[in-house]
Amino acid sequence: MTRRPTEGGRLVIRGGRILDPSQERDGVFDCLIENGRITAIGAKLAADGAEVFDAAGQWVVPGFVDLHAHLRVPGQEYKEDLASGGAAAVAGGFTQVACMANTDPVNDDPSVTQYILDRAAKESLARIHPIAAATRGLAGQVMTEMVALRRAGAVAFSDDGATIMDAGVMRRVLEYSTLVDVPVIVHAEDCNLRGHGVVHEGAVATRLGLPGNPAAAEEIMVARDIRLAEWTGAHLHVAHVSTAGAVESIRRAREAGVRVTAEVTPHHLTLTDAATMTFDTSTRVAPPLRSARHVEALRRGLAEGVIDAIATDHAPHATYEKEVEFTEAPPGMIGLETALAVCLQLVREGVLSPLELVRRLSTNPARVLGLEGGSLAVGAEADIVLVDPERIWTYDPGRGHSKSRNSPWADQRLTGRVVATFVAGRIAYGFEHKDEHKDEHKDERGVPNR
Ligand code: DOR
Repeated sequence: MTRRPTEGGRLVIRGGRILDPSQERDGVFDCLIENGRITAIGAKLAADGAEVFDAAGQWVVPGFVDLHAHLRVPGQEYKEDLASGGAAAVAGGFTQVACMANTDPVNDDPSVTQYILDRAAKESLARIHPIAAATRGLAGQVMTEMVALRRAGAVAFSDDGATIMDAGVMRRVLEYSTLVDVPVIVHAEDCNLRGHGVVHEGAVATRLGLPGNPAAAEEIMVARDIRLAEWTGAHLHVAHVSTAGAVESIRRAREAGVRVTAEVTPHHLTLTDAATMTFDTSTRVAPPLRSARHVEALRRGLAEGVIDAIATDHAPHATYEKEVEFTEAPPGMIGLETALAVCLQLVREGVLSPLELVRRLSTNPARVLGLEGGSLAVGAEADIVLVDPERIWTYDPGRGHSKSRNSPWADQRLTGRVVATFVAGRIAYGFEHKDEHKDEHKDERGVPNR
């Protein structure tokens, strides 16, 4: 039978491999939690009366922070809502999620930001942070009221899904963002160069007869925005970097002291445009999956710290919307529940150590958004994830938590799974959720129910 720790209770997670990038800690320790905060990390902690969770053989890591997800509230709740998105988040180990502004209505007004936060407080298991639009209606013309939006709780500004093509408007957006000191997150893609491109412009696009979206469309816009960030002194954050040229521009800018950070998605790190050969519309994403040369550059950029964070770009769409011609399908794939398993491939292939993977899923994205989190230091909020890195399971989006199913990993065997997620010291996922996907080692390594 499952027992939940009582609110404000004491619990101890025993004998797990603690991976805490904020403390450069990688070792087997116990972790004591009291009143929702971490109060001790050490060997064989005395914890009389505390509820005990045995984490032998598991990783104990700070909750992941997704700085880029589409939770579709308000207005597109048939794709996702804050209950389903929050449940998908904690099932994937994400205790904090920043949600993009391309909702209906657009989150370009403090009342919308407040609405999202109010609903999140009631419905979401994960902590939700709204990202407000940078321009009204995401139209790229008139700036939003940044100070009011920030006061209402926005953690960043972004027209994600659309590019601010007018450099003059972009300059003003960056300038004004410095007043509230939060990042401007850019979907960097020159719309004219992209045209109607739906896959990476290259040999695969030619073979498929699909219109291509050239790497230069991203590379040119990243270069422009970096120059504007340098000029204005603003914090520019480049969303879903997908090209080698963008990585190089970001590298040079950082070396020159420009305030630029960047994220990459699990799909751009592990899939190439060859995945689109099946015409599976879940592989239609914006920006598109690129060729192997670009994927290699993204991995190198991530390993070297040029790219700070991994972000899911969780983009749910209804099945009927995706079951159309490739060119007609809306771009996007879901990713909250598979991100960890997909990214563990990078550990197995020697791209990242376990500690460095956790840094990019947790510590760094928290830093980019200026959020508390990403740390298992004494005093930190007990947002903690237990991971079994070896567990093999078959992902079934139909039995997952998201309302949508548009995943290229559907029905695939994945290695590595979240066993339990704590938010503020309370169980948000685990123990009660053993029936969702086919789990080949169900009883061998799970944290025992108590
Ligand atoms: O693939 C994507 N889907 N990229 C975006 O920029 C937008 C997103 C969505 O909202 O579905």
